[in-house]
Amino acid sequence: MPLTLVQGSYIVAGLFFILALAGLSKHESAPAGNRYGIIGMTIALVVTILAATGGVRFTGGETKGSGLIGLLLIAAAMAIGAVIGIAKARKVEMTGMPELIAMLHSFVGLAAVLVGWNSSYEAAPFAKVHDVEVFVGVFIGAVTFTGSIVAYLKLSAKIKSASMMLPGRHFINLGIIVAFFVMTAVYTAIPHEQLFARQLLLGIMTALALFLGWHLVASIGGGDMPVVVSMLNSYSGWAAAAAGFLLNNDLLIITGALVGSSGAFLSYIMCKAMNRSFISVIAGGFGSDGGVVGEAKDYGEHREIDAAGVAEMLKGASSVIITPGYGMAVAQAQYPVAELTKRLRERGVNVRFGIHPVAGRLPGHMNVLLAEAKVPYDIVLELDEINDDFADTDVVLVIGANDTVNPSAAEDPSSPIAGMPVLEVWNAHDVIVFKRSMATGYAGVQNPLFFRDNSQMLFGDAKERVDDIIAAL
Ligand code: TAP
Repeated sequence: MPLTLVQGSYIVAGLFFILALAGLSKHESAPAGNRYGIIGMTIALVVTILAATGGVRFTGGETKGSGLIGLLLIAAAMAIGAVIGIAKARKVEMTGMPELIAMLHSFVGLAAVLVGWNSSYEAAPFAKVHDVEVFVGVFIGAVTFTGSIVAYLKLSAKIKSASMMLPGRHFINLGIIVAFFVMTAVYTAIPHEQLFARQLLLGIMTALALFLGWHLVASIGGGDMPVVVSMLNSYSGWAAAAAGFLLNNDLLIITGALVGSSGAFLSYIMCKAMNRSFISVIAGGFGSDGGVVGEAKDYGEHREIDAAGVAEMLKGASSVIITPGYGMAVAQAQYPVAELTKRLRERGVNVRFGIHPVAGRLPGHMNVLLAEAKVPYDIVLELDEINDDFADTDVVLVIGANDTVNPSAAEDPSSPIAGMPVLEVWNAHDVIVFKRSMATGYAGVQNPLFFRDNSQMLFGDAKERVDDIIAAL
C-alpha cells in the first residue's frame, strides 16, 4: 500500500474524529457525531490492518507486512474482542456504564504498558528519544491501568467510595514523580547492551507508577469521582498517544491526543462545576480531610407523604421543578416522569428540570435519560440557569437525587462535599424527596434537606411512586 494513501486516509479518519467530538457536544447533533466516529474508526481500522499485513511502499523503499498469518492473527483477536464486547454491551445497564468505561480505560493503560515494554527491547535510530518515549508511555499507561481499576471498584461499589488517607500522601505522590524523572534520565544514559540494568530500572518504574495510579484514585472521596473518571479518560488518551509514538502510528498519536485533550477539558469543566481546584483533585484526597463521612448527626424528625398527597399538592401548583438524580436512573423512572411532565403541562403548570452537572454517574447522565423519554430540551435547565428560580417555585420533586441537593455542601464547611455547588431546592415552597430509605447518597454524607420543615419524603421505588401520582392526578 503506498505511504501517501495510508497518510491521506489517516488525515481523513482524524477529520472524522474531530467532527465526531464536535457533534457529541450538543444533544441535537450527538447521533450524527456518533456516525462520524464510526466512519472514522472504520477507515482507521481498514487502513491500519492493510498497511500492517500488506506492507507500506514509500520513496526509497518499502516495509514488509506480516502477510496472511498476521491478518489471521488480527482477525482472531478482533473476533474474540468483538464477542466479549457485544456480549458486555448488550447486558450493561445505563447505571453500569461508568464502571464499564473505567474498566475499558484500564485496558488502554495496560496496552500502553505492554507496547512500551515490547518497544524497550528494540534498538531505535534515535535511541535516547526512544528511551524517553518508552518511559513516558509505560508510566502513563501504568498510572491509567491501576487508577482505572480502583475507579471501577469504587464505581461498582466493590470497595468503599470514601477516600483513603495514607499519612504524607502528597509527599508519596511527589516522591514518585521526582523518582520518575530521575530514573528516566538514568535509563537514557545506560547503553542498550546493558539490558538487565535497563529492564530492572524499567521494572522498578513500572511498579512505582502502578502504585501511584492506585494511590491517586484511592485517595479521592466519593463526591469527587466524576472528575477522576474524566481525568482517567484523559490519561487513557495520552497513554494511547504515547503508544502511537512507540509504534510509529500517526493516527494513534492524533486520536490519543484528541481523547487526552478533550478528557482534560471535560475534567476542567467538572472541576469548575464542583468548585474544585484541578490540581487538588489530581493530587488526591481534596474535599475530604479524613473527617467523618456519613456522620450520625441528629437532624430531628423527617415527615412522610403518600402519592395521593403529592398529586393533591401538584393540582394546586402553578410552578414545579424536577431535580432528577442517580435514583431516577436506577428505577428507570424517566418514562413516567416524562408522562407526569406532559400531564402537568397540559394543566398549565410551568414544569422545568434542574440538572446538576454530576447528577447520576456519568457526565450528561440525566440529559441522556430525559432525551430518551422525549422530554423537550428547552425545559431542561442547568444548575446555574435554574438555581435562582427555586425561591419562586411551588413544588420541587427531587427524584432519586441526594448529594446534588444537599444543603450541607453550601452551609457546612466541615462537610466532605463542602463548596460543591448544589441545586438549592430547599428554597422552594414545598420539596418532595423520592427515595427508598433514609440512606445516604454516593458521597456517604447525611442530607439535612430530608429534615427541613418544607420537605416531605415519598418512600419507595421512584418509578412506582411516579406511576401512583399519575394515577391519582
Ligand atoms: P446520589 O447522591 O448518588 O443519590 C441517589 C439516591 O437515589 C440515593 O440516596 C438512593 O436512596 C436513591 N435511589 C436509588 N435507587 C432508587 C430507586 N429505585 N428509587 C428511588 N430512589 C432511589 O445521587 P445524585 O444526587 O445524582 O448525585 C450523584 C453522586 O454521584 C454525586 O456524589 C457525584 O459526585 C457522584 N458521581 C457522579 C458521577 C457523574 S460524572 N455524574 C460519577 C461518579 C460519581 P435510597 O437508597 O434510599 O433509595
